[in-house]
Amino acid sequence: MYKAPRGTFDIYGQEHLLRDEVVNVMFDVVKMYGFSPITTPIFEESKLFIRSVGDSSDIVNKEIYEFSDKKGRSLALRPELTAPIMRSYIENKMYAQDPIKKLCYYGPSFRYERPQAGRYRQFYQFGVESMGIKNPIYDAQMIIMALHILEQLGINNFSLHINTLGSNEDRANYNKALKDYFSNHVDNLCEDCKHRLDTNPLRILDCKIDGDSDIIKNAPKLQDYLSEDSLSYYQTIKQTLDSLEITYIEDEKLVRGLDYYNDIVFEIISDSDDAKNTLVGGGRYDNLCSQLGGENISSIGFAIGVERIINTLKAQNENILENYNQDIDVYFSTSSDEERIQALRIMNQLRDGLVCECNYVDKSYKANLKQALKHNAIFLISFEDDSAIIRNLKTKEEEKMSERDLLNYFNKLR
Ligand code: HAM
Repeated sequence: MYKAPRGTFDIYGQEHLLRDEVVNVMFDVVKMYGFSPITTPIFEESKLFIRSVGDSSDIVNKEIYEFSDKKGRSLALRPELTAPIMRSYIENKMYAQDPIKKLCYYGPSFRYERPQAGRYRQFYQFGVESMGIKNPIYDAQMIIMALHILEQLGINNFSLHINTLGSNEDRANYNKALKDYFSNHVDNLCEDCKHRLDTNPLRILDCKIDGDSDIIKNAPKLQDYLSEDSLSYYQTIKQTLDSLEITYIEDEKLVRGLDYYNDIVFEIISDSDDAKNTLVGGGRYDNLCSQLGGENISSIGFAIGVERIINTLKAQNENILENYNQDIDVYFSTSSDEERIQALRIMNQLRDGLVCECNYVDKSYKANLKQALKHNAIFLISFEDDSAIIRNLKTKEEEKMSERDLLNYFNKLR
């Protein structure tokens, strides 16, 4: 027997219907902020991710699904969508008329992670990327939009964490300070962190192994290396959130696992499950466009893990799936092919809005009634002579009428 690969899953039934609604809500909210949808390929040139997400990040270093195609091109299943969307923005010259573009997306991402609750190897992200606007009030607006999505989904138990990574220059100074500091403690670092010391010392701070050690606790703080401009930018974001009475936690340890960020970074963490999963992650990335060969265009975005949203909704309401049934409106009970053809003719008309079904194998009226009730049907229709008998399963009323009257009956209901 074949099984879905480890860390992947099939989506069907009520679970799929719940997911469809979740994703629709997400798109509906961001459309109100002027975002329009984009779909990019599932695989891209590997180099795209190495240059953007960064070869010192775990995502590229350990988790990427990389392969060569038949012509020997090095390709990768996308581990995230920010880089592909920036690639598309540049390649399609979306900036030509107006550099401001607001794009939203939903689709699978792939990371070779150790599967556990809320962590998969193929997972789905809903996200937004906004190019061409740099303003701290806009950054606050993006965070507010993420909160708006969660509010519309009915998710209530979470906390917003924010931090600033400062400008490129601030980070270069800070990286140097970290390098000097950790070089004196190299013997106490894990093997990965020894490597990170050369490639990107900032990554040492969110190491899963060394993360809680005293060496990391006593390391230089980025906050001491931020310029006046970076601080004031961050300050305005916080003031905007304060004025809108949005609660947040300033989290100096929040550095995010991808290399392209600067200034504001944020995460929204679920408080309703033990694993404290991050539901939303995002931030500003002003250098990605030029890094990928485009112009100097400032951008900001975030992505939401759709499975984590679904898991949180289920944790909040364990019966939630019961609200997602493939209900039938009208069920036809037929007892011959002739009646089934008649039912098909009527169903063709009613399917302009109504979900219709009939039995294709002869069954008793009683068995068909049972089937109709199982799918919460409102009407059960059977045939007698040249007439149809329509039974309202809610009121138990029954009426006998011609096919034409039956169609009129439903037309009046609309
Ligand atoms: P990320 O934090 O790597 O950011 O992922 C965003 C969200 O995807 C996470 O907060 C989480 O909900 C979900 N996620 C990540 N990995 C997994 C996994 N293995 N299984 C299930 N869910 C997962 C990014 O990907 C950035 N591209 C976000 C962004 C957009 N930044 C700017 N624009």
